Amino acid sequence: MKPLIKKLTETFSPSGYENAIREVIMDEIKDFADEIKIDALGNLIARKGSGGKKIMLAAHMDEIGIMVNHVDKNGFARFASLGGVFPQTLVGSRVRFMNGTPGVIGAHYLKRPIKLIWNKDMFIDIGATSPKNSPVQIGDVAAFDRPFVDLGDRIIGKSMDDRIGVAVLIETLRKLKDTPHEVYFVFTTQEEVGVRGAITSAYGVNPDIGIAIDVTGADDIPEMDTKTIFLGKGPTFKFKDAGSIGDPRLIKHFIKVAEKDKIPYQREVANMGGTDARAIQLTHAGVPVMTLSIPCRYVHSPSEMVDYKDVQNTVKLLVKLLEKNIEI
Ligand code: CO
Ligand code: ZN
Repeated sequence: MKPLIKKLTETFSPSGYENAIREVIMDEIKDFADEIKIDALGNLIARKGSGGKKIMLAAHMDEIGIMVNHVDKNGFARFASLGGVFPQTLVGSRVRFMNGTPGVIGAHYLKRPIKLIWNKDMFIDIGATSPKNSPVQIGDVAAFDRPFVDLGDRIIGKSMDDRIGVAVLIETLRKLKDTPHEVYFVFTTQEEVGVRGAITSAYGVNPDIGIAIDVTGADDIPEMDTKTIFLGKGPTFKFKDAGSIGDPRLIKHFIKVAEKDKIPYQREVANMGGTDARAIQLTHAGVPVMTLSIPCRYVHSPSEMVDYKDVQNTVKLLVKLLEKNIEI
């Protein structure tokens, strides 16, 4: 899967601008789905199987990024964030605009401690000297620019959140030969700005069960008081986060499947954050949901790291789960 992950994480598609990544995914899935649709918000919805329980798997295809809101008189672009961008991860970062223009994020970090206030302390240098010769203008969008890195078990890229979930869905669709269910593989848009694509796609699919596949912050790093989520110890079953409570019957079923097939997993309780499950559970008259997470270090930085074994185990678990009946 590594060439696929490289391709997915090196594609630039921040929230609202998912065209490029949607085309890449479409190319990877078109020979494996029974039906493919794109809804008005740009969600890519692929169905496999028919007649059984409707199961919606959701992985968001957008990524965090920035949008220009001002080009100053000296040609420096100022910006707003698209999704949860942490200023402290930005200085020295490269960005790439949708029109191909590269830029570097600068700040006065040698002169004084950076207070890291948008538009005041940080700017994007795109090599311009005035608004007139600037290759970008107000409203232009960029994503972070970092190549994929393969360290063996550990792999690093920008937008592992949630292109790694996208890779898992693609691989699961390819590996799933037979299913008693009607499975919808949904590649959602605009998750990073408030799970917006999941709201409309879930409404359209109207599933019986919803499962979000996303990354979760691993805290197995120095200087952390608690170490609860580890790279390499398997996907996590999320009991809750700030946006949803995992359906207890669904979590119990996942645990049963994982233990039967000896797939490692971790139990996760998060105070913060939310996934597409938040939107899916509230559609129509309500849907039981849970989130299956891939542990990830440095989430929402330009260098997000996951463990390749966790990725493979997540695929294995989903294939096992979808091959058989789900009684909840
Ligand atoms: Co995210
Ligand atoms: Zn995510």
